Amino acid sequence: MQHIIVKGEFAIERKICLQTDPLPYAICLCPYSLTSHSLTSKSVALKDMSEMTDKFECLIQGLMDAEHGVVENFISPQLVATLRANLLARLAAGEMIQAGVGQDNSFQQNNEVRRDQISWIEDDQTDRGEEEYFRLLWDFLGYLNQTCYTGLNAFESHYANYDPGSFYRKHRDQFKVDSGRKFSVVLYLNDLWLEAEGGQLIIYRKDDQVMVSPEGGKVVFFRSDVNEHEVLPATRARMSIAGWMKQVH
Ligand code: OGA
Ligand code: MN
Repeated sequence: MQHIIVKGEFAIERKICLQTDPLPYAICLCPYSLTSHSLTSKSVALKDMSEMTDKFECLIQGLMDAEHGVVENFISPQLVATLRANLLARLAAGEMIQAGVGQDNSFQQNNEVRRDQISWIEDDQTDRGEEEYFRLLWDFLGYLNQTCYTGLNAFESHYANYDPGSFYRKHRDQFKVDSGRKFSVVLYLNDLWLEAEGGQLIIYRKDDQVMVSPEGGKVVFFRSDVNEHEVLPATRARMSIAGWMKQVH
């Protein structure tokens, strides 16, 4: 199924469509839209909105042209610092747990496959930084639905910390028994990352592979059901928020 979106003078053919019967956009409203902080951030200047729209477009275009989208400085350095401090606080409080693979009955912790520690971000979180980031992601989810008929209606995410030497071997993000995860969105929280420190994300494409370095503020976007990917070990701690846009019924 293809959709033609007219932008400026050009007709852009959009091919991202995960279902034949799109959900009305109204069902996919951000659950945070009624909280007081959100009302404040909702009134951010129109300029910021169009800046975000450009970033969303860049991620979508990258996905269509190169099987992955990357945007540097997706969020402000201040927000990166806030989210990194949250992760470090969870780590210090012993709240980051050894990550597993699989889901429900097939869930297992296997440190030959992945060695990161994670902490889920709950839907009812009250942290301002998390709320600000979630708002952007829900805006992006709505934007995808409106422009690519993706019918997304849920989102889940967790902090991840990779200690030096930790990795996540080649995998896909969509579970075998649950196809809910459609798109992966990873935000990096690392200050001044050097190429030589490793920790790259390798994304396997149809004919080749690309490497993405985990610089703070960068977002990478790819399909959870299509692209295998892996996280290489790094020489210093590597921090991120991994998230998945979903279609749940
Ligand atoms: C994941 C994952 C990639 C990254 O958490 O599933 O693949 O670069 N993360 O952290
Ligand atoms: Mn993954």
